[in-house]
Amino acid sequence: MTTSSSSSSMVFVTLIIVSLLVESSSAQLSTNFYSKTCPNVLSTVKSEVQSSVSKEKRMGASLLRLFFHDCFVQGCDGSILLDDTSSFRGEQTAGPNNNSIRGLNVIDQIKSKVENVCPGVVSCADIVALAARDSVVFLGGPSWDVKLGRRDSRTASFSAANSGQIPPPTSTLANLINRFQAKGLSTNDMVALSGAHTIGQARCTTFRSRVYNDTNIDGSFAKTRQGNCPISLNSGDNNLAPLDLQSPTFFDAKYYQNLVNNKGLLHSDQVLHNGGSTDSLVETYSKNLDTFNSDFAAAMIRMGDISPLTGSNGEIRKMCGKVN
Ligand code: HEM
Ligand SMILES: *[C@@H]1O[C@H](CO)[C@@H](O)[C@H](O)[C@H]1NC(C)=O
Ligand SMILES: *[C@@H]1O[C@H](CO)[C@@H](O)[C@H](O)[C@H]1NC(C)=O
Repeated sequence: MTTSSSSSSMVFVTLIIVSLLVESSSAQLSTNFYSKTCPNVLSTVKSEVQSSVSKEKRMGASLLRLFFHDCFVQGCDGSILLDDTSSFRGEQTAGPNNNSIRGLNVIDQIKSKVENVCPGVVSCADIVALAARDSVVFLGGPSWDVKLGRRDSRTASFSAANSGQIPPPTSTLANLINRFQAKGLSTNDMVALSGAHTIGQARCTTFRSRVYNDTNIDGSFAKTRQGNCPISLNSGDNNLAPLDLQSPTFFDAKYYQNLVNNKGLLHSDQVLHNGGSTDSLVETYSKNLDTFNSDFAAAMIRMGDISPLTGSNGEIRKMCGKVN
């Protein structure tokens, strides 16, 4: 009797310790983080995103991508927003970002509106997370509750942004799996998050070798894309093509139908359906919008959990482009 009750209280104490440990490592982000300190933050961000995206649909894609590129370098900490100065080189000119990321001015504008309603309270990192969600919703995709409470970094890393942690469009499937796994994201999360390429545009330089050299590409699709992407290096590098040929300003599952038809624009898109382990999930998403939408939303929440700064770490920047 005594032994069993003391061993069950041991179990109880252990459970409490374990739950405290779990709590201290991940409990900081919460969907109601600003409910007392800035109750209007959600509506403020949403109306600014709506006005920007209704002016230019592509901006919704650009804001979504900004969140991905922020989270994959040092965690979701606003590091990508820090502008270069004469004495500081940030992430914006690193290979995956240079001449490519967009929407920094929109984030700055949202931040200034948010500062008007509650100065010094809301981080730029959280604004990026909210703007990504609001963009997806505005373009017809799923919604989710965004966890909040991230703080802003005082640093950024050009070298980390250039190190392949953000995988390149020439990636193999194995590389994509590894790079997402390194951030705590599963293969299924990776396939679902790649569905972000149902919106937005890519530059010729990112798909040239695919449309001229890949063999797993639909012939007439390749011809069409070659038409606006000259074969010679350095010519037409910035010419744009839609990542989803069917509905590039609508957040749907047509991206996966394209992959099934060998009409993925990037090499790294088509590897998701090229006879490998992710073919069946691509096929599922191509046929089932609800499944894609709910997996995408869940994966976005997990991506938003990557190494946030919380508590007294980092700061709440006054302006997103520079440290206080
Ligand atoms: C799986 C690995 C990924 C690779 C290799 C990749 C690569 C790329 C490349 C090369 C572009 C075109 C950039 C340019 O030409 O300027 C692009 C655009 C884009 N990516 Fe990804 N990406 C990946 C995952 C993601 C994820 C996880 C998201 C968001 C959840 C995302 C969202 C976007 C969006 C929305 C665009 C269009 C941006 C715009 O039009 O401004 N990508 N991506
Ligand atoms: C970024 O792009 C500009 C314009 O194409 C180029 O001059 C510059 O060298 C690039 N920066 C880096 C770090 O590659
Ligand atoms: C196609 O591949 C060949 C051989 O690797 C390479 O020399 C050529 O530059 C590639 N062409 C394009 C447009 O990528």
